[in-house]
Amino acid sequence: MTDLIEQARAILRGNDRGGYTVPTHRLYPFQWNWDSAFVAMGWATFDEARGFTEVERLLEGQWDDGLVPQIVFHAPSDDYFPGPAVWGVDHTPPTSGITQPPVLASAVRHMLERSQDRAAAEARVAAIYPRLVAYHRWWPRARDPNGSGLVSTMHPWETGMDNSPAWDAALARVPATTITAVQRRDTTHVDATMRPRAEEYQRFIHLVDLFRDVHWQPEKMLAASPFRVADIGTNSILLRAERDLSVLAQRFGQMGDGGEIAARSERMQSAIEKLWDTQLGLFHSLDLIADSPIGVATSGGLLPLYADVANASRAAAMTAMLRRWAGQVRYLVPSTAPNDPRFDALRYWRGPVWAVVNWMIAEGAARAGQPGLAADLRSGTRDMIANGGFSEYFDPRDGGGIGGEDFSWTAAIYLLLG
Ligand code: DGY
Repeated sequence: MTDLIEQARAILRGNDRGGYTVPTHRLYPFQWNWDSAFVAMGWATFDEARGFTEVERLLEGQWDDGLVPQIVFHAPSDDYFPGPAVWGVDHTPPTSGITQPPVLASAVRHMLERSQDRAAAEARVAAIYPRLVAYHRWWPRARDPNGSGLVSTMHPWETGMDNSPAWDAALARVPATTITAVQRRDTTHVDATMRPRAEEYQRFIHLVDLFRDVHWQPEKMLAASPFRVADIGTNSILLRAERDLSVLAQRFGQMGDGGEIAARSERMQSAIEKLWDTQLGLFHSLDLIADSPIGVATSGGLLPLYADVANASRAAAMTAMLRRWAGQVRYLVPSTAPNDPRFDALRYWRGPVWAVVNWMIAEGAARAGQPGLAADLRSGTRDMIANGGFSEYFDPRDGGGIGGEDFSWTAAIYLLLG
């Protein structure tokens, strides 16, 4: 076993808080939804049972209506803002009130299919499966009640790509909080130039105030929110997860589950296909309040590859565009196009490379007939980790590790890359 594999395992063990894994010490001291899905797959490469436990612990936070929250606050910590009191959610264990990109069903299928102890894995998945079904029913019910085929996200934190320039115009419509004192802790753990700006946090917290006031009821949130986007990343990840859930349904489902999932998937597939943007050379998100496309080229716009939505010519066009980006930065995939004036190599989702995004794009590129791109993304990601450490994200100009250190999902991706 190489040293780096041993180090990656040690990071997961070090961030284990008893069946759930914090993204990293101090900066993120609870369990996060999409982090945990990647982390579960990472654990499963050397401890299959622990991989399923990660998912089960996340599902302790699931609400009665099916929502799987962005954060489960298993144990108190002063290291993070906003904590449970700001969210004001009535749940045990306490949770935040929004969700995150739903990688969960994909992670469960991934772990099941690679399990050595198949009987043990099947028993775990049989119990998890109905919870996944409830989550997947929640999405269109709560976030696409009109059946457009695209789910809405109502907070930049839900997209997982918090301060992406794709959200700038939509977030500009959100006023600053006047109710909650913003007491950021993140900038005491990480250099402020690598984090979202103060004005963004003020707006992020206004949205929390607004949703808390309507008691987190989806229909009221949809009506009240000044921020509502159809995020191409979230929609692609959900469609990928629907395809993976349909495979699980064949083994664990009730009669009718397969048809229900197929109907949702077909609707999503045709809605996502319409988001192809010839000018950008990738897919775009929609601003649902302004009723307009969001013309910003971000790494999220490549995730339809991961959902198997992009046909051969679109996959080739995206590959060609990434090759052009590679002429401007040393490491792919920067979270924002390097020729965009809003590109910022260090600031969180405005430029840095994220290992989980590279992994998803590589998975999709391999299936879409772009094995060269997939191989380059995988080896580039390994190189960045080897040189820059298991960092939260990486500077695309030189691969330097930035943001938080000893990051669980970066370790998990290293383990998945094998
Ligand atoms: C943050 O950065 O605090 C958000 O919670 C990410 O989900």
